[in-house]
Amino acid sequence: MVQSTNDRRRSGGLFLVLALVAGLVVPAAQPAVAAGTALSPARVIPAPVSVRPANGVTFELRPWSVLSYDPRLPRARQVADDFAAQLRPATGFPLPVVPAVPGLALPGISLQLGAGGQVGEEGYQLDIAADSVRIKANRAAGLYYGVQTVRQLLPAKVERTSVQPGPWTLPGGSVTDYPRYGYRSAVLDVARHFWTVPEVKKYIDDIARYKINYLHLHLTDDQGWRLAITGWPRLTEVGGSTGVGGERGGFFTQDDYRALVEYAGAHFMTVIPEIEGPAHANAARSSYAKLNCDGVAPPLFTDIYGSPNSTLCLGKEITYEFLDDVIRQVAALTPGPYLNVGGDEATDVPKDQYRSYLQRVQAIVAKYGKKLLGWQEVAGSTDPARTTAQIWFPEEVDQQAVADASKHGAKLVMSPVEHAYLDMKYDENNPAYPVGQFWAGYIEVRDAYDWEPETVVPGIDGKSVIGVSAPLFTELVFERPDIDILAFPRLPAIAEIGWSPAATHDWTSFRDRLAAQGPHWDLTGVGYYRSPQIAWPPRETR
Ligand code: ACM
Repeated sequence: MVQSTNDRRRSGGLFLVLALVAGLVVPAAQPAVAAGTALSPARVIPAPVSVRPANGVTFELRPWSVLSYDPRLPRARQVADDFAAQLRPATGFPLPVVPAVPGLALPGISLQLGAGGQVGEEGYQLDIAADSVRIKANRAAGLYYGVQTVRQLLPAKVERTSVQPGPWTLPGGSVTDYPRYGYRSAVLDVARHFWTVPEVKKYIDDIARYKINYLHLHLTDDQGWRLAITGWPRLTEVGGSTGVGGERGGFFTQDDYRALVEYAGAHFMTVIPEIEGPAHANAARSSYAKLNCDGVAPPLFTDIYGSPNSTLCLGKEITYEFLDDVIRQVAALTPGPYLNVGGDEATDVPKDQYRSYLQRVQAIVAKYGKKLLGWQEVAGSTDPARTTAQIWFPEEVDQQAVADASKHGAKLVMSPVEHAYLDMKYDENNPAYPVGQFWAGYIEVRDAYDWEPETVVPGIDGKSVIGVSAPLFTELVFERPDIDILAFPRLPAIAEIGWSPAATHDWTSFRDRLAAQGPHWDLTGVGYYRSPQIAWPPRETR
């Protein structure tokens, strides 16, 4: 009988300013101003690195405004086109997109090359003057993130799809901004319940605004196999046919997956596929008898936790041939650097077998040109120099193994259950929001916000932390609106921890900036949780 963490889960509970800106360059003569006036960080999540308001200065987008871009910067045109397309419906302005002409100042918004080394590949410099808005960056990603900031600074009615009265103003001033971490991910579990391509695309739309740059798709688990693999049709025909409670079966064809990769890429987000093993593999085992030690395919698993047929047959060569074929195909479909191989909760696998399994899998991942990512359990069982481990359950982590691995080059991503798991309920007694789990405790918005990635695991070198992740497992997520309720507003909290300097961390400021997101969500169909911790403005109706 599998004695897994799942059983433990079932047994219940563990349990200025944005200141802007500390470090900010607010000149003494121009004190930072209150929320809602001048260039206030009051509306921007994640908090920028620094903001310098220009009091009394306001930019207004006009019917004759132009969006210009520097054609030397690859993809700048795409960023400009997308931004113009977002602005046109509500403003009703034509907003032509044109290449910049050296020496010619066009009225409107310009996307420019060259922001100085300090902002790196994803950062930007934003200057809002009375007659122009300039976003400068070293790469198109920085332009894209500058645009996300500007979208938050515009009146929320910009989200409407019919022409609205202006004015379309932006508060004057300058922002210098770049991420604390290069890895800011959201995990979406499409295995426990399947989410269609349009459903995932909408999630990409909504999380990209918060500068999330990796979409980690949990593609396989006990309850479902969600990606078609050539030569193994039963994985999706059988393994993809159902989900928790017998609901929401389905799978991505390889073209569907390519479409998601491309859509994410257009949002400057890299897809990370996760193929689970050696545990969480009931769906694969149900699909192919030969993947089972006894040669008998077990039934499909539609319960929530604790499949007795979770673990692959580690002693059979076919298991590794299967994984080689799957990983080869998934790697070929995935332009990003990472391939996640799971590795969590293999509690019935002896340590030495677990280790040799992972070493074989790591060799396969490397053979197909990818870097191995896995859950925290992989630390100590893989080559640390080629491993990124995602810490998910700090209470159970092998601190020594993680510290040793990080000392030998392993990178760490932080998603501690008690702060970052979006599938937990917000609180115990909220009948309006019954959705979610509670095995890791209740996570209100402030709990999602108040943590520091580099102290999650004692004894590690903070430099080994490359970022954060906001996982949304979907055992108890049955409908698409529930995704929104669970992710918003907690995902923006995790996004801020991943992007903003620790010095800007301030709950009071975050709370106010979060309130300002509400109208944007109302108008873009994001059905968020109206946490009582936040002074939300009245709902906007579409
Ligand atoms: C996990 O939640 N088992 C990674």
